[in-house]
Amino acid sequence: WKTLDDMDLNGKVVLTRVDINVPMENGVVTDATRIEKIVPTVNDILSKGGKPVLLAHFDRPKGKVVPEMSLSRVAPALETALGRKVVFGADCVGEVARAAIASAGVGEVVLLENTRFHPGEEKNDAGLAQQMADLGDVYVNDAFSAAHRAHASTAGIAHLLPAAAGRLMEAELKALEAALGTPLRPVVAVVGGAKVSTKLDLLGNLVGKVDHLVIGGGMANTFLVAKGIEVGKSLAERDMADTAREILAKAEAAGCRIHLPIDVVVAREFKAGAANETVAADACPADAMILDAGPATVAEIAKVFGEAKTLIWNGPLGAFEIEPFDAATNAAARRAAELTKAGGLVSVAGGGDTVAALNKANAADSFSFISTAGGAFLEWMEGKELPGVAALMG
Ligand code: 3PG
Repeated sequence: WKTLDDMDLNGKVVLTRVDINVPMENGVVTDATRIEKIVPTVNDILSKGGKPVLLAHFDRPKGKVVPEMSLSRVAPALETALGRKVVFGADCVGEVARAAIASAGVGEVVLLENTRFHPGEEKNDAGLAQQMADLGDVYVNDAFSAAHRAHASTAGIAHLLPAAAGRLMEAELKALEAALGTPLRPVVAVVGGAKVSTKLDLLGNLVGKVDHLVIGGGMANTFLVAKGIEVGKSLAERDMADTAREILAKAEAAGCRIHLPIDVVVAREFKAGAANETVAADACPADAMILDAGPATVAEIAKVFGEAKTLIWNGPLGAFEIEPFDAATNAAARRAAELTKAGGLVSVAGGGDTVAALNKANAADSFSFISTAGGAFLEWMEGKELPGVAALMG
């Protein structure tokens, strides 16, 4: 794929797909990370003499015009992040879009309305892609976090204009390649979260690629059940035990070491500050539930991290939203942060909950790379081709 360095943007209208699908409460953006991350791309386009015209989706309006999902509501946060005037166009195609583009002056940025207001967007409709392409001279995709969608603005349009990856897309792809494509070994993956059933493809792909797989969170309970261990009232998908056993067998055949909890923190109630105790992983009382990994498990994880050269992390190790059941996630995250800072570890993390957990542990800033992607990060970890990335390959 090409980058902005390969493109002549001087005097060109640069249709730039970004992901500014940010959380919003009462009309106020509550986390502007995704907006801040596209600033380098927009500035580079401007410094190369191009006019950035941003294409983006917001929420899931399902092909209808839903005023609460208008991107005009994101425009003020975009202006703040860019420190520039943003001209808003109330449609992403046609005369309205053309007029907005024409009215933007030097150093200004155009933001077009939610692409998903058109039913053709999610269908990757060729006509809609052509209407978008008609607005500009070149196409830049900076929306890695929407690249798992084969939509008109993420995939179709890339075949109609000279296309390149933006700076954030470039950084995401390089980081992911370094983590799973051609990584420094040993590689350790941490996979946590509630359910095995939502991460089956991911676990199946990882056991064939990484040297160590740390399994945490609710899904670890399902693996304990698969090994014949009683987990009391813990969250566990008992009907997934056979599948979990298959993953364990596949890992063994591939030489991937699986690390399950050795000890666990159990409680009788799922609430912050609940009375709790630490027991061996095979000694969960019948009336208790496992809410976190214990200190012996954290020590083993720290040892594995210490020997690894690459870490890829998705999902918390325990019920990190409620204290004190965030302890294992915090301790492991901080260890990873220290090792990364010391230069011994390349650490990459992604997925909504994961980033929240690493932020809570004050560890995210020290990771080598934190992906802006949720679903796209998971699909990439599953080894799937992302249509938005594939379309940039030509
Ligand atoms: C995301 O928030 O992960 C992306 O913006 C994609 O959104 P979607 O899941 O609605 O396609």
